[in-house]
Amino acid sequence: MHESSNRDFYSKDSVTYEATRFTTAAGQDDHNRLMSCLATLSDSLDLTDVVEVGVGTGRVTRVLLAQGAKAVRCVDIAPGMLKVAEETTADPRARYIEGSAYDLPIGDDDCSSFVSVNLLTHLDDLDQFWREASRVLRPGGMALVTSTKVDSLYFPFGVIANRRGLAYGQNVYTVWHRRNAQLGAIARAGGKLESITGHFYTPRAVDKGPVGRVFHVITRLLDRLPSRLRARLAPMDIYLVRF
Ligand SMILES: C[S@@+](CC[C@H](N)C(=O)[O-])C[C@H]1O[C@@H](n2cnc3c(N)ncnc32)[C@H](O)[C@@H]1O
Repeated sequence: MHESSNRDFYSKDSVTYEATRFTTAAGQDDHNRLMSCLATLSDSLDLTDVVEVGVGTGRVTRVLLAQGAKAVRCVDIAPGMLKVAEETTADPRARYIEGSAYDLPIGDDDCSSFVSVNLLTHLDDLDQFWREASRVLRPGGMALVTSTKVDSLYFPFGVIANRRGLAYGQNVYTVWHRRNAQLGAIARAGGKLESITGHFYTPRAVDKGPVGRVFHVITRLLDRLPSRLRARLAPMDIYLVRF
């Protein structure tokens, strides 16, 4: 299930994560567009008592807190990530808990909303992930979850990642799921899909130099496609699911 390799990789990566991910013009722009999209979508969430899984350095936690979240329990498998998130976020409404998305250290029916961004690309067992979301959410609670999808305009990047089982330039398990696999797992866990928002970003494999600049311009144009077409073609799906 790749949990120990994910933990080892991200504990080391926590030290340089923010300094290496969102630093190019394309990376910064993607970060800003994704955070603003998540802020808008979080209007659909009850932010009384949120569980966020795979928090990393806390960039999404900070959006949730800025949107008025009363409490966020931040779960991550990598202690190094939790340490950086706690230091960077420095907000008493956020609590940090080491644990796995497959076996959350959270009780049944114990949160109003469930959030997970950029984690599913490191997990192969979609059913177990969505079962856990369903278990911890109170009835009627909403999940906001992102996932890269291979059946998108960026399929060459997804096919390469799936063949290698690794992210570009990084020794961490990576899979781009199919949308239907995702929808099947959501339905089996008892979730009702409310919406899918498509998000385009510049893959890190091409985000530097002149190629990066061209890709960045194209990505921004694609992100302005009408919402249905964007959701069909974009490499990232952002799911809102009611349980
Ligand atoms: C790509 S980072 C995303 C971080 C953050 N959500 C963001 O968007 O910047 C993936 C995070 O998921 C965590 N992670 C990986 N496998 C996990 C698992 N099985 N359970 C919980 N967290 C996991 C990693 O430690 C890492 O912090």
